Amino acid sequence: MAQFKNEFLWWQRGVVYQIYPRSFKDTTGNGIGDLQGIIEKLDYLQNLGVDAIWLSPFYPSPMADFGYDVADYCDVDPMFGDLATFDRLVAETHARNLKIIIDWVPNHSSDQHPWFIESRSSRDNPKRDWYIWRDPALNGGPPNNWGSFFGGPAWTYSEVTGQYYLHQFCKEQPELNWRNPEVRDAMYDTLRFWLEHSVDGFRMDVIGLLLKDKDLRDNPPNPNAPPNLPANDLFSRLLQVHNMYLDENHVLMREIRQVLDAYRDRCAIGELWGPLPMWVKYYGEQGDELHLPFNFRLMDGMIWDAQRMRASVDAMEAALPEFAWPNYVLGNHDRMRLATRFGGQAQTRVAAMLLLTLRGTPTIYYGEEIGMEDVKIPPDKIQDPQGINLGPERTRDVCRTPMQWDAGPNAGFSPAGVEPWLPVANDYQGRNVAEQAENTTSILTLYHHLLRLRCASPALYGGSYRPLDVEYDDVYIYLREAGVQRYLIALNFSAEPRSLALPEFNRGEIVLSTHLDRTGDVALNVCSLRANEGIILAL
Ligand code: GLC
Repeated sequence: MAQFKNEFLWWQRGVVYQIYPRSFKDTTGNGIGDLQGIIEKLDYLQNLGVDAIWLSPFYPSPMADFGYDVADYCDVDPMFGDLATFDRLVAETHARNLKIIIDWVPNHSSDQHPWFIESRSSRDNPKRDWYIWRDPALNGGPPNNWGSFFGGPAWTYSEVTGQYYLHQFCKEQPELNWRNPEVRDAMYDTLRFWLEHSVDGFRMDVIGLLLKDKDLRDNPPNPNAPPNLPANDLFSRLLQVHNMYLDENHVLMREIRQVLDAYRDRCAIGELWGPLPMWVKYYGEQGDELHLPFNFRLMDGMIWDAQRMRASVDAMEAALPEFAWPNYVLGNHDRMRLATRFGGQAQTRVAAMLLLTLRGTPTIYYGEEIGMEDVKIPPDKIQDPQGINLGPERTRDVCRTPMQWDAGPNAGFSPAGVEPWLPVANDYQGRNVAEQAENTTSILTLYHHLLRLRCASPALYGGSYRPLDVEYDDVYIYLREAGVQRYLIALNFSAEPRSLALPEFNRGEIVLSTHLDRTGDVALNVCSLRANEGIILAL
C-alpha cells in the first residue's frame, strides 16, 4: 500500500485545518491571537492528526476587514509577530511533518497600501492605473450600479482627483487592476516572496473576482432578490454578471499556477463560489489552473438533509474531469458554525464523519473539532464590517470567537484579566479542548479517531466513492474502496433510529460509530443506526 500512498500528493491525501489567527491563541495579552500562539499549539494540531494548516491573513493591515485589507503583502502585522516568528512557525510546522498554507488576497489591497496611497494622489501618478478609477456618471453618481458585498455602492468618490474607485467589499479595500501587467508582476512577486519563505501553498481570496468587465457595464436586476433586504444591500438586488467569474480569469489562473509550479509540490487553493459548470473550469482544461477550487456546496442553504448532501456530492463527482481532485468545506470564518447551522451537537458528529470520509481533501475550521457554536455578539461588540453595515444578523463575528482551550479564564485563549477582541462563548467551561481530551466519547475524541482512520486507510484518503440507494431518504450510505480495503459509511441524518437491509453485503465490522460506544462484527441483513448516528463499517 506504500506505493498507493505515493500516488497522492500531500494536499490530496491530507486534511487541512483553518486557523483564524486573531482567535486561536493570544500569547502577548492584547486580546488578539498571534503567530507565537500558533507555534505553541502545533503539538495539539499534530496530535489531532491534521496534515496542513491554513492561516487567514496575518499581513500588516488597518483591520477594516480583519486582515483581508492588506497594507503590505510581504510582511507580518506587529500585532501577530514578525517575519522571524513567521519563519519559526514554518520551520516548526515542517518539523512536525505538517504543511503550511497562507491566505493571499489578490483582488484588493488596503487603502493604506503604499500602492493605493500613490494611486489616489493624482491622475497621472504612475500607479494610477494599478486600481480601478472612473469618472462619475453623468448625474455625478457612481460610474455603474454595482453594489458592495458589505452594503452600499461598490464605488467611493475621491475628492483629490474627482474620480471614483472600485471596491466590492469595504471602501478601505480598493480593487487592484489585474488588466495592468505591472500589477500582475508585482502580485506574482508577492507569491514568490512567500514561496521563498517555504510556504506550501496559498488559499486565494475571492479569486473569481480578479477581472471585471472591460466596460464596467451595469449588472442586471436580480429577479429572485429576497424581500426585506436592508436598504443598503445593493449587491443582492443585482445579478453578478459583469463583476465576477469572467472567462478571461482563466488566463490569470494559469499564470498564477506557473508561478507556483516553479517550486516543488506547492498547492493553489481558490475561494470560488458560483454554479458547478463555471466552478469546475477553475481546475483548468489541462489541470493547469487551481489544484483545488474550494468546494462550499455542502454548506449551501442551511438544511440538514441526507438527499441534498448526496446530490451535492454526486453532482460534483460527476462534473469533475479525470485529473481533478475533489475537496469539501463545511465551515469557515465567513459562515455559521456547523452546530448552529445544522441544528445541534448531534448533527456535528455526523457532519464530521461525512467530511472526513468523502473522497477529496477536507478542510476543518478551527473549533469545529470541539463542536463550537455561534456566539451571540452584543450589538455594541460587533466588529465585522458586514455586521456593522448590513445588520447584526449578518455579522460573521459569531463564528470567529476565541478558541476554547480550557476551563480557565478566557478559555485559555488570552491571559486572565484581558478582554479578548470578541467575547468567549458562554459554554466554554463545558466545551473546551482540555475537557474533551479527557473524555473518551467527546466530539474531539471522535475527530481524533476519524483523522487517524482516514490517514491510515487508503480506501478513505484515496479510494473510489460509490453511493448506495436505500429505502430511507434521511440515510446517506456510500462505499469507499481501494484494492482489498472496503469501507461502508452509513449516516443517519434523522432523529429517529433507522434499520435497513444491505443485501449486497453479508457481514461488516463497525470500526467507528459517531457515538463512540460500539465496534465489532455485525450482520448486514439488518443494519441498525441509532438516531443521529453515523458508522464506518469495514467490509
Ligand atoms: C473572502 C474572505 C472574507 C473577506 C472577503 C474580502 O470572502 O473569506 O472573510 O471579507 O473575501 O476579502
